Amino acid sequence: MARRKQIYEGKAKILFEGPEPGTLIQYFKDDATAFNNQKRAVLEGKGVLNNRISEFIMLGLERIGVPTHFIRRLNMREQLIRHVEIIPLEVVVRNVAAGSIAKRLGLEEGSALPRSVIEFYYKNDALGDPMVAEEHITAFNWASPQEIDDMMALALRINDFLAGLFAGVGIRLVDFKVEFGRQYEGDMVRLVVADEISPDSCRLWDMESGDIMDKDRFRKDLGGVTEAYREVARRLGVLRDVE
Ligand code: C5P
Repeated sequence: MARRKQIYEGKAKILFEGPEPGTLIQYFKDDATAFNNQKRAVLEGKGVLNNRISEFIMLGLERIGVPTHFIRRLNMREQLIRHVEIIPLEVVVRNVAAGSIAKRLGLEEGSALPRSVIEFYYKNDALGDPMVAEEHITAFNWASPQEIDDMMALALRINDFLAGLFAGVGIRLVDFKVEFGRQYEGDMVRLVVADEISPDSCRLWDMESGDIMDKDRFRKDLGGVTEAYREVARRLGVLRDVE
């Protein structure tokens, strides 16, 4: 196999130079990290599942007119994506109180929020991804006011799509994180969904049992992490050709 140039290695993924200009190959590792890298493990098969689940979600978003970086899946662990300029923000949408918002605001885990809430976090490992306000985003020029509006509108459309998708298979979408990138086409710039959307970046609870089906199983030492991801994949029907 020809050696490929590695562009970037993150906690759960590696990016390689793609076959054509403007493309990259996104490789899904089995590594899991939490609490800003303080907790680590290798969960065999996680990368394969997240590759499939993220492909399925990105294709669904494209179908409803939300642009993404996804081009096509290449194999069990890799997908071809568009090379975009990543906006250094994590956009979190919450429907139900859990995780950091429950702690920060003293809310009961599992209580429905009065409406979907959008939060921005500055992507910076050394700082532990601090929450930031629009004021910081525009003052430090991480994104323009128009881009903030566009990200919020897209994040809500993604939330509606994902909440419906998961409800259809008996799963409650508690919250999720999404990242955006700028895709340059001549003079035009458009915002596209980047990175991945998978049980690593969502909170997913079984509607009947309340069982946790996402990365909180790893964060909270509940065990059965890949089994839960596999169940999410199975319910979404993304494993049909490999089962
Ligand atoms: O920890 P917190 O409650 O703020 O997380 C909100 C949502 O964002 C969760 O679904 C979590 O998995 C996701 N998240 C993420 N990457 C981070 C921080 C949070 O995918 N660095």
